[in-house]
Amino acid sequence: MTRVNRNVPSSRASKAVRLDKYLANNSTLSRKEVRIAVKTGRVLVDGEPASSFSQHIEDASEVLLDGAPVEIQGPGYFMMNKAAGWICSHSSDLYPSVYACFDRPAESLHVAGRLDVDTTGLILVTGDGQWSHRITSPARHCEKIYRVGLAEFITPRMTERLEKGVFLSPEKVRTRPARVEVIRPDEIRLTITEGRYHQVKRMLEAVENKVEWLHREQVGELKLDPDLAPGEWRALQNNEIALF
Ligand code: URA
Repeated sequence: MTRVNRNVPSSRASKAVRLDKYLANNSTLSRKEVRIAVKTGRVLVDGEPASSFSQHIEDASEVLLDGAPVEIQGPGYFMMNKAAGWICSHSSDLYPSVYACFDRPAESLHVAGRLDVDTTGLILVTGDGQWSHRITSPARHCEKIYRVGLAEFITPRMTERLEKGVFLSPEKVRTRPARVEVIRPDEIRLTITEGRYHQVKRMLEAVENKVEWLHREQVGELKLDPDLAPGEWRALQNNEIALF
């Protein structure tokens, strides 16, 4: 599924910028493909074939690639229902990368709070580093809500310890207070406000339990869209972007 979010619809360049950068940022072409496209005359700037990939295009220049206007896309803001077996990393020999799913250069995107390869659910993908920082900054305590399948039945003592905070060896600082809602004896909803490495799995290990499966339902006030099947994504709406 590829639905495109063009945050600033325009076929005009908004400021002077190198042609190769402009095309790489605003089309699905890599920098290398951009250079080939320019060399082979597929790129027109203001009606003339581009002279060089390093030429600067001026404010209000019109850029055409294969006859179609190249629009300024903005950084992009997406939610994905990550499927198991996909990795939130730009390169892996073992697993497919979530970035390959989006119709813009992978290197222009990052995930605001990664999930492990076997974890499913909500990931937020963007090119806007300031926006993602507001989600992941440890100082902001943004809530993340997970459904957690457990190997052992949850006990009141485990719940109490998780809610109070546990030590994740070898770290010296207790996890921040969490919320536990028992859904079934072997399934809980866990709300945490940090993003430590493998945090949920390590928290459950710390109380002598084990995560069997893990699914992220919500980040801050933003819930995973129930219409997204595993592996599907959509652009965020402006009111969703404004939550962070
Ligand atoms: N905690 C984990 O252990 N894994 C995840 O993927 C997310 C949170």
